[in-house]
Amino acid sequence: MLETIRLKNVGPVPQLAMDFAPRLNLITGDNGLGKSFLLDLAWWTLTRTWARETIIPLPGSKAEIFFRYTKKTQPPYEFKSTYDAGRTRWTVKQSRPAIPGLILYAQVDGGFSVWDPMRNYWTDDAPDRPNAFLFKPDEVWRGNEFCKGLLDDWALWQAGNDMSFKVLKQVLGALSPSADELLIPGDLRKLSVKDPQRYPTLRMPYGEDVAVIHASAGMRRVIALAYLLTWAWQEHVESAKLRSENPTREIIFLVDEIEGHLHPRWQRCIVPALLKVMDVLTSSHNSKVQLITATHSPLVLASVESEFDAEKDTWFDLDLEQKQVTLRKRPYFPRGEIGNWLVSEAFDLKEPRSLEGEQAIRAAQAVLDESKPTTKAIEAADKGLRRAGIPDIDPFWVSWGYFMQKHKLDKSEVVRAANSPPLKKARATKPTIKAIRPTKPGAKS
Ligand SMILES: Nc1ncnc2c1ncn2[C@@H]1O[C@H](COP(=O)(O)OP(=O)(O)OP(=O)(O)O)[C@@H](O)[C@H]1O
Ligand SMILES: [Mg+2]
Repeated sequence: MLETIRLKNVGPVPQLAMDFAPRLNLITGDNGLGKSFLLDLAWWTLTRTWARETIIPLPGSKAEIFFRYTKKTQPPYEFKSTYDAGRTRWTVKQSRPAIPGLILYAQVDGGFSVWDPMRNYWTDDAPDRPNAFLFKPDEVWRGNEFCKGLLDDWALWQAGNDMSFKVLKQVLGALSPSADELLIPGDLRKLSVKDPQRYPTLRMPYGEDVAVIHASAGMRRVIALAYLLTWAWQEHVESAKLRSENPTREIIFLVDEIEGHLHPRWQRCIVPALLKVMDVLTSSHNSKVQLITATHSPLVLASVESEFDAEKDTWFDLDLEQKQVTLRKRPYFPRGEIGNWLVSEAFDLKEPRSLEGEQAIRAAQAVLDESKPTTKAIEAADKGLRRAGIPDIDPFWVSWGYFMQKHKLDKSEVVRAANSPPLKKARATKPTIKAIRPTKPGAKS
């Protein structure tokens, strides 16, 4: 497992220390603060190859990348790399690196990278061995010089009903959003008379078989993931057999924006599913999976509330503070309703609402907090709440209703304010304050 990355003068954070947890590592942070950058770095430390662009430090700075990961035997492997600007590359240890396990990296654009210790590890007898298998999004589907790609492999596996197809079906099942919406392969199908290809299909809940190239973006992301997991693992096992070695038990899985294209129902279960899918792949319960994933989804954070274990899991949060990017480990605890995740440090929203709703509630809250608010200020806040379309079921109306009553604000004034243009439209669908605020016994209606 990847244990530690420490950086100096590289990327958006001038100094960074990241101590990973052995199982799940969630990374949150605003756009552009370095989540993908950290995944790229994690990939490089484990494989000595770049999955995307080489990371280049700022000119003139003394940049360092220190990393440590566990290997089969103690002590862990570690190295401090410096940037050689003349050769535009990071220094690496001259001796053979230790093997961290099978490394998989799913990028946000649908690209995928695999580093397989059985196939990519450098040996004297195989100097032409590829450093890693890097797939552009289209290559995942159509193949490249190392791999036939999803369309051909799936069709071949299915036609031959071989082991890889059984594994693929299991992985698809494990990554499905629910038992009612299982990803089940349908029959192979030709799509046109001109095209000789027989395409894999998915059996839709409405009974039709839809060619995988026509499947929705969310389904395509997950089936590409399922295919590459199956391909990488099956190839790894075959290669281990050829070399009379045991397959690895360590798998490190890097996933950028894990929720990409997925419906909320699916976002709620994809992380737990990925944590379990390796057991499905390896048909064992003792494979060790470390998942490092970046997310913008409150549902992904909520999805592990029942199983988050501080001994095995952690949450890193990137923030911009006083014009500096900082990375912190945040304490993880269940938040209840999903909206509470939106206002947590992960997403830093002030209110789990629309921007207008947030501004109106904030303005009304400021009036609530004043010791002697003027009628004008109260009316302006009330107008703002209505303009923002705060619905009548919103709990904020309860405290606002009491407040209006406390300040003996005449209903007619409120109605007049609310009816004044341009609020007529919103007012027509909203209840009067009288309708939702509690009335004092004996108060005039
Ligand atoms: N090849 C590179 N060399 C040096 N620094 C880089 C490189 N690629 C990215 N960075 C740094 O990372 C920052 C962008 O971060 P990144 O793409 O990781 O953001 P992100 O948090 O993933 O955002 P988003 O949520 O939008 O995907 C850049 O502003 C730059 O500082
Ligand atoms: Mg990113």
